[in-house]
Amino acid sequence: MAKLISHKTLLSTCLVLMLLTNFCKFGASSEKITAFFIFGDSTGFFGEPTGRFSDGRVADFIAEYAKLPLIPRVLEASADFTNGANFASGGAGILPETNKGTVIDLPTQRKNYEAVQKTLVEKLGEIRAKELISEALYFISIGSNDYMGGYLGNPRMQELYLPETYVSMVIGNLTQTIQVLYEKGARKFGFLSLAPLGCLPGLRVLNPSEGCLEEGCRLARARNKALKVVLTSLEYILKGFKYSNSNFYEWLKDRTNNPSKYGFNDGVNACCGTGPYGRVYTCGGTKKVKDYQLCDNAEDHVWWDSFHPTERIHEQCAKELWNGPSGRTIWKSSSSTRKRRTPLSPISLTPQK
Ligand SMILES: *[C@@H]1O[C@H](CO)[C@@H](O)[C@H](O)[C@H]1NC(C)=O
Repeated sequence: MAKLISHKTLLSTCLVLMLLTNFCKFGASSEKITAFFIFGDSTGFFGEPTGRFSDGRVADFIAEYAKLPLIPRVLEASADFTNGANFASGGAGILPETNKGTVIDLPTQRKNYEAVQKTLVEKLGEIRAKELISEALYFISIGSNDYMGGYLGNPRMQELYLPETYVSMVIGNLTQTIQVLYEKGARKFGFLSLAPLGCLPGLRVLNPSEGCLEEGCRLARARNKALKVVLTSLEYILKGFKYSNSNFYEWLKDRTNNPSKYGFNDGVNACCGTGPYGRVYTCGGTKKVKDYQLCDNAEDHVWWDSFHPTERIHEQCAKELWNGPSGRTIWKSSSSTRKRRTPLSPISLTPQK
């Protein structure tokens, strides 16, 4: 596994700016991104592989391409956060109800960020800290768990909320977090859209006709659409707010349907787990299930376990995020839509007529 390069480099514009493609348009050539703050679930996880349950190193790869030093996890209390911090927690959701008690939810990740921000002010002084915070990149990759365990796997939630109501509630909470981060000085945001959740081996197996589980895909599409609308609105409402969104949904669906086009030979079955599609979440053994199967070569698979793509998929994804607009990028820059579109405003601050 590649070691992260750990020298401190200030990055020149387009290196990191390519990550958020529209920044190249907005940014002055002197613009630098020196810090990277990561919020999310297992796909945002970081650092040593030991002790984490996903090999999802999207953020790790990006930091590596950016030649940023290893971004410390926030639980490392004595760490230096001047290049950013990773607040992500495997299994976490946007709603506190999601996997309650076993994860650090997004509102808590946000509180942890506020604590880090305080230490930055103490260390660097108000002016320099403010600069760092506004130049930093805020990468947010979260939400799958709210729809999988939090909704599809939770009959009580399904009783309480219609799917569309649930989606607006989750998006409403995400919007609040974005707004709070903005109020604290954050300006540059990057989002990883949700995967085609119904095609995850753990959900696919619930479909009697063997295809992707339509409910899962529909929820992911609804949420991705809703986020897109919110981001367009925020761009109009919040001065200096810049973002880039990605189309991870189509990107991953394409690899699931056409694995051989991308150098994989299995787009359906998980490499590690038990049962049909390797769906049962037993990779590494659990308290109850000691036995699990492991494929010969994870690199051949799109899916690592019932819920996570393989490291190779994460690497391909990070490369495309990094390389930005060249070819069929999975980033969708906000600047391409901002001229043509009148903003729809679900979070409008003024009452609608
Ligand atoms: C955030 O989620 C809670 C449930 O955890 C819900 O009651 C609340 O209405 C949501 N907030 C917004 C702004 O949608």
